[in-house]
Amino acid sequence: MIRKKFIAANLKMHFDVAEASTYLHNLSKTLTSHREIEVVIAPSLVAIQPLSREIDVRKIKLAAQNAYFEDEGAYTGEVSFSMLKGIASYVIIGHSERRIYFHEENDVIAKKVKAALRNRMSPILCVGENITERRDGHAKRVINDQITSALSHLTEEEMHNIVIAYEPVWAISTFGNEQAMPDDVEKMINEIRKQITYLYGEKVAESVRVIYGGSVKADNVASYLAIPGCDGALVGGASLNYLEFNKIVQSCFNVMQS
Ligand code: PGA
Repeated sequence: MIRKKFIAANLKMHFDVAEASTYLHNLSKTLTSHREIEVVIAPSLVAIQPLSREIDVRKIKLAAQNAYFEDEGAYTGEVSFSMLKGIASYVIIGHSERRIYFHEENDVIAKKVKAALRNRMSPILCVGENITERRDGHAKRVINDQITSALSHLTEEEMHNIVIAYEPVWAISTFGNEQAMPDDVEKMINEIRKQITYLYGEKVAESVRVIYGGSVKADNVASYLAIPGCDGALVGGASLNYLEFNKIVQSCFNVMQS
């Protein structure tokens, strides 16, 4: 089973509508599209709808950074997955900033995964341990728990639409400046596939894309993409500069050619 490479820009709470539009315009002009690589950008919720009118989805797809699991109702301030249906192809779920700052627990994350799939959006499920969990030797248990609670109630068909991003909290630029070693990332990616195999069998595990995120830049992305089983990257800070993000996509292409 060939897993298409996946490079996503998590723009977080940066860029207003005009800035996001300029970013998209500049990126689209610079980017050479490659059939073997899926390029995705996740702008703010307010920018996602106007961008959906400008974007050429054959070249770049849109992801939402969050949504609420109920389809409608009295939930002041929330936007539902059903409202994003047809606008975003993907949605980031379980990002550590949401787990930490907005106290999103595994049960809420599981409901969001279901709601995304119900509304024909593919979840980019983020999992990863924090530094204490890692030092205490609990990293594998933490990600296995995160995966099991978020993904154990799906059909095999639904599993094919899942992208899992391994993002160790301590390596995300927001929380620290430690760089994850490719060897460590490889062990955790293997662990993720092992857990999917346990839940759904080898065939499903081989079809699910597992990507890496955490201080990915143009000058280090190749070392992560060279890891067997690593299907791409979720890029935060470095994606804010479209030239740098373009270099990351180009680097992915180069790794595939080598
Ligand atoms: P970073 O963020 O690349 O700035 O570390 C990655 C992420 O938060 O998804």
